[in-house]
Amino acid sequence: MQLANAALAALLVVSPATAHQALAQGLTPTDRSPYQTMPGVDLYAAACANCHGIDGTGAPPSALAFEEEVPDFTDCSFASREPDADWVAVAHEGGPVRGFSGMMPAFGGILGPEPLERVMAYVRTLCGDARWPRGELNVPRAMFTEKAYPEDELVYTIETPLEGDASALLSEIVYEKRFGPRSQIEVVVPFGVRQRGVGAADPDAWVGGLGDVVLGLKHTVLHSLASGTIVSVGGEVKLPTGKTDDGFGGGTTVLETFAAVGKLLPSDGFLQAQAVFEAPTGAGHPNEVVARGVIGKTFTSGGPWGRAWSPMLETIAARDLVDGEAWSWDLAPQIQVSLNTRQHVLANVAVLLPVTDAGARDARLFIYVLWDWFDGGFFEGW
Ligand code: HEC
Repeated sequence: MQLANAALAALLVVSPATAHQALAQGLTPTDRSPYQTMPGVDLYAAACANCHGIDGTGAPPSALAFEEEVPDFTDCSFASREPDADWVAVAHEGGPVRGFSGMMPAFGGILGPEPLERVMAYVRTLCGDARWPRGELNVPRAMFTEKAYPEDELVYTIETPLEGDASALLSEIVYEKRFGPRSQIEVVVPFGVRQRGVGAADPDAWVGGLGDVVLGLKHTVLHSLASGTIVSVGGEVKLPTGKTDDGFGGGTTVLETFAAVGKLLPSDGFLQAQAVFEAPTGAGHPNEVVARGVIGKTFTSGGPWGRAWSPMLETIAARDLVDGEAWSWDLAPQIQVSLNTRQHVLANVAVLLPVTDAGARDARLFIYVLWDWFDGGFFEGW
């Protein structure tokens, strides 16, 4: 057994291509059996440490027969955000399954799922700082409900009415950046074009411009992988940068506070909820409360490591804090899908349907493209 490990390890460091061959040919069951009971730490030392370093920080480039950079498993900022499922996929199938280099070999044939899970459990101990919320709690981003998980991402959303007299094409760029284990800042820049619409002197004329820019801060107050729960609080300032005469923006600074919850459900299901209190500072603008909630589930196509599809059903309830005001309700069925192999570029298509007061609000189509820029360039990993 010692010999088999040493041979495998030597093979891997000298030539990943040769190792691939050996792994692809599959070692005989007698070669494989020792790995079925070996503790994770020993498996790591035998199969991973040559490239990833015995301490997990990555072997020095001089010891590696390839150019690719090896990730640092002790870096919590990197390691904590990768869910086990993605890491097991890479270790089982090899780097290319998530758009990484083929220098990361496939171990599924020789180790199998259970030994790989033991290796992963060991790799998890290399980041010893429990303040960082685990990537499993980073459930798919709904169209409207703010996530509890702090993110590094860029989201571009377009929106257009599906009924009504005036056409419009509105966009929004959301930039989110994490800092520290649990915090995140956010900038939202809306802009677009719309027809002036009924009531205007020239209803068919198009106008364009900037909407109300939003600056936000979010902080995770509680997270637990064991219970599958994450809770965050946040605040936002919406600035009156939009030209209200042309229908862009609300015309007053709005202060907002919110709480957001994410909850994992069995079989890759998830729930998210957000409660918002909005306080416009200008006279004549009532305070508003908004409650958003979403339930969804992730499926894969093309095998267990394939494209991820997450159908979701979202509801939005809003009410001005004025005596006698009723709640307005909207429903938003939607589906998010991963666009590339790395799964860090995703799209979501949603239809927003007014449930109450349907005459006053139009059904609208929303589409976003999301790029988790921490996981690599937009064009990497396709
Ligand atoms: C032959 C060298 C080599 C060996 C042996 C090796 N790896 Fe890797 N691994 C790499 C390289 C190189 C990368 C980075 C690939 C890239 O970024 O394109 C990588 C990346 C990874 C990643 C992806 C991290 C991310 O960015 O999400 C995981 C997980 C991983 N390795 C786990 C393992 C485990 C577990 C073992 C042992 C069972 C192992 N590796 C053995 C070379 C190796």
